Amino acid sequence: MSEGDHVIVHFRNDLPEPTTVHWHGIHLPFESDGSPFHPIKPGETHDYEFTVRPGTAGTYWYHPHPDHRTGFAIGKGLFGAIVVHATDDPLPPMQEKLVILSDNRFLHDGSLDFPDPASHHGGIDEENGREGPVLFVNGHVMPTVTIRSGETQRWRVVNASAGRIYRIALPGYTFIQVGSDGGLLEAPREVKEILLTTGERVEVLVRGTGAPGSKTMLQNLPYDRYAPQTRPQDWNTTLDLLTLETTNETPISPVTIPSTLRKIIPLDTTKVTAVRTVVFGQGMINGKLMDMARVDVSTKVGATEIWEIENVVGMDHPFHMHGFQFQVLDRDGVREAYLAWKDMLNIPKHSTARIIVRYDDYPGKWMFHCHILDHEDHGMMGVLEVK
Ligand code: C2O
Ligand code: CU
Repeated sequence: MSEGDHVIVHFRNDLPEPTTVHWHGIHLPFESDGSPFHPIKPGETHDYEFTVRPGTAGTYWYHPHPDHRTGFAIGKGLFGAIVVHATDDPLPPMQEKLVILSDNRFLHDGSLDFPDPASHHGGIDEENGREGPVLFVNGHVMPTVTIRSGETQRWRVVNASAGRIYRIALPGYTFIQVGSDGGLLEAPREVKEILLTTGERVEVLVRGTGAPGSKTMLQNLPYDRYAPQTRPQDWNTTLDLLTLETTNETPISPVTIPSTLRKIIPLDTTKVTAVRTVVFGQGMINGKLMDMARVDVSTKVGATEIWEIENVVGMDHPFHMHGFQFQVLDRDGVREAYLAWKDMLNIPKHSTARIIVRYDDYPGKWMFHCHILDHEDHGMMGVLEVK
């Protein structure tokens, strides 16, 4: 898509159960959000319709969001990436790669392993979020990406896993992070590794600094998001995701990366009309399970608010808000180092983050939830009504 496009998606549900298509991260009218409020019955059709607003350019994704069944649908492979192009992209033209990360688990006969929720394994999935030993990039196991020495590529990385949080690195290389969930940052930042929580996206520049003919792997480094009781035994092994191969072509001279990408105006903390407290407990938000008939937070179009999200338990929970991009103010009292538009924020075990959000349009009922799909499906979700 491009900024300014008017998008109409004709959808027909050929599944034997109700479903939706949710446009994760896109700022659009409530009726087109594809949340559990608007299920499409088997055999029925629906047109999702929205205009891509200026400033949206970035990497998003889409996935079903039926009540209680999101993890199952995504586990079956129903997801994809959305790239929104800018009308005035500050980065020079270069090869773009989509890197959609997912993992899965299979039985001996090759079928997907969805254990009975009442079983021991089912219980572990419910606690950890369903995780599997097979790691996919765009549905392939260990694909190869080639790069020419000196070349710069733009990689858009999406974490579509149900529970796995990735900590990605390319040994011997430094990423230049240029974007996050809601598009470009103000300025590029050099990083050795990136923590990518569930549902989160990042845009990085990868520079072909390897010698012609050399290879390296994009790796997933260990990250302990788990509660000690259900932490997988092999949690601290490094796993390979893809091979980056430097071709034998003669090196080219690198492009120049602009030192500023765009201006992000910080949301005005003096305009804040409410400070909300959201407590992530085990499987619940503020001690409650999701109820679609209840409104948990009620507010008005145009309001600016601070949300203080506190994780009081011993495992990470990734926070997601529908409809609106927010800015992170601080994490455990430490001021966020740079401005970015976000719709996903990992809330590590026993920590607190503060975000600021302005509901600048689109009244409706919006979900906010933990993006570990098993937690979300079991009710770790709330309703934000914007009037
Ligand atoms: Cu990616 Cu409410 O979802
Ligand atoms: Cu959770």
